[in-house]
Amino acid sequence: MKFFVDTADLDEIKEAESWGCLSGVTTNPSLYAKTGGKLADFEGHMVKICQICEGLPVSAESTAETTEDMIAEGRRLASLAPNIVVKLPICEASLPAMHTLAKEGIRVNCTLVFSAPQALLAARAGARYISPFVGRFDDIGDEGLDHLEEMIDAVHNYSYGYWDEEDGPEIITASVRTPHHVTQAALLGADIATVPFGALKKCVHHPLTDRGLELFAADWAKVTAEA
Ligand code: E4P
Repeated sequence: MKFFVDTADLDEIKEAESWGCLSGVTTNPSLYAKTGGKLADFEGHMVKICQICEGLPVSAESTAETTEDMIAEGRRLASLAPNIVVKLPICEASLPAMHTLAKEGIRVNCTLVFSAPQALLAARAGARYISPFVGRFDDIGDEGLDHLEEMIDAVHNYSYGYWDEEDGPEIITASVRTPHHVTQAALLGADIATVPFGALKKCVHHPLTDRGLELFAADWAKVTAEA
């Protein structure tokens, strides 16, 4: 399973990219707002992310509400950098937009996906990536991972003819909150997990690793003290 980082914060993206295990970035309007960014700077900000992560897919979300506007905004976003992926929410207006953009070779990440029928429709319309949300199910007392399993199985049962067989559509496990979500997404066969930087850092750690490091450091201090 590949790791994407789910943030629009440039410092977080730079640090995650420096680790050498990052395969992409996802952003959304809320994540951009969190950086304090203004409308006039949005496209420039997306370009900066694309430059930090040269060659890696960077999802930039359209806020358009009609099919025509989604197509126009999608084309504009895709023209910003070769690694931009246009993010569109699943809805009646976005399906024809996904289809048009896919036929032009523009990659779409279909977001806000909460059911297998939604995921299958997005795949059939030509989405290159499909993003089922896990944590938001958990937030309302449901089992996000059970829904994720359904969506992965349903989408991976078929081929869709838009992208190379091995390349898509790929399932991005989104709305990830914990390392447990990451583990289970991998065991369920998700192609990608997009993880907020805080949760990604938690994935690097384990209490026994941290304790082991403290013990090694304490014992090594004894060795160096004797020298
Ligand atoms: C990713 O593509 C989504 O925008 C993101 O994972 C949403 O996560 P949230 O539920 O934590 O806002």
